[in-house]
Amino acid sequence: MKRIGVLTGGGDAAGMNAAVRAAVRTIWHHGLEAVGINRGWQGLAEADARVMEPGSVSGILHLGGTILRTFRYPDFATEEGDAVMAKSLKKLKLDGLVVIGGDGSFRGANKLMKDFDVPVIGVPATIDNDIPGTDRSIGYDTALNIAVDAVDKIKDTASSHGRIFVIEVMGRNYGLLAAQVAMATGAEETLVPEMKYDVNELCARMEQAYAMGKYHALIIVAEGAARASQVTYEINQRLNRPVRMVVLGHVQRGGAPSAFDRILATRMTHHATDMLIAGKHGVMVGVVANKIKTSALVKRTGADSKVVHQNWELAQLLG
Ligand code: F6P
Repeated sequence: MKRIGVLTGGGDAAGMNAAVRAAVRTIWHHGLEAVGINRGWQGLAEADARVMEPGSVSGILHLGGTILRTFRYPDFATEEGDAVMAKSLKKLKLDGLVVIGGDGSFRGANKLMKDFDVPVIGVPATIDNDIPGTDRSIGYDTALNIAVDAVDKIKDTASSHGRIFVIEVMGRNYGLLAAQVAMATGAEETLVPEMKYDVNELCARMEQAYAMGKYHALIIVAEGAARASQVTYEINQRLNRPVRMVVLGHVQRGGAPSAFDRILATRMTHHATDMLIAGKHGVMVGVVANKIKTSALVKRTGADSKVVHQNWELAQLLG
């Protein structure tokens, strides 16, 4: 083994740089050469890479985004795309690859192992926290804190004007981010993809709350459940109260990673890189109940909906 590649894929997530740093420095500790793949899967297909010395990852722990950048490679599923990838992999001469990303990246990682015989190990990174095999993925904690901070601010103005605010948060098809934002901010209502909602019931509950003395209402909407614009429209049709909406969007993906994400990224990626160098691949490294755990990269199950239910129920009960 001589050269190990490091790639970030999918949507960026705060803490990816801490993961890149951990991978690069661990590779050098083993006396091997670290190769950073620029621009994710697209860069891998174009053999766009650079050797990364330990010093090249100095001063990046606290930076959001990913210094390696991340681009999709839609041609990966085609014959021509595969031929381009094969040529590039030959040029890069990688003895293994650390893939830092979400489920889409792990599917790419599987293909690399199956069709191109490249040993790959995965590290979960996405703000959606929808990856089975780990309690938390890199970036989730930061995104959660950014959203909570934003909702706290919105609450001040909602309360001053007695308004209803519909706030859309990311999470793709998974409602955990929305449910935990709601619980941490005391939101009155939460819409998640895992639970059906009835806008008439939602409006009736809000009217009841207003009648009991509440002066504002925050509704957290997971992007996978509904669009904030639609919910706002539906409420406007039913209630004679001022309603405003905010889509938090990509704000949740940026900014400095929380200490939690930096530590999580460092622990998981160091372990993953060590394992890859020791000859193990085809797995994702996660943290479950604060212990490092591995799970297969292939045949992955869906994200845990039970934990969303638990968080959603408590947020609804106390909101
Ligand atoms: O998977 C991370 C995520 O931020 C999702 O929460 C969101 O649905 C999606 O990526 C947005 O993707 P894009 O940056 O391509 O618009």
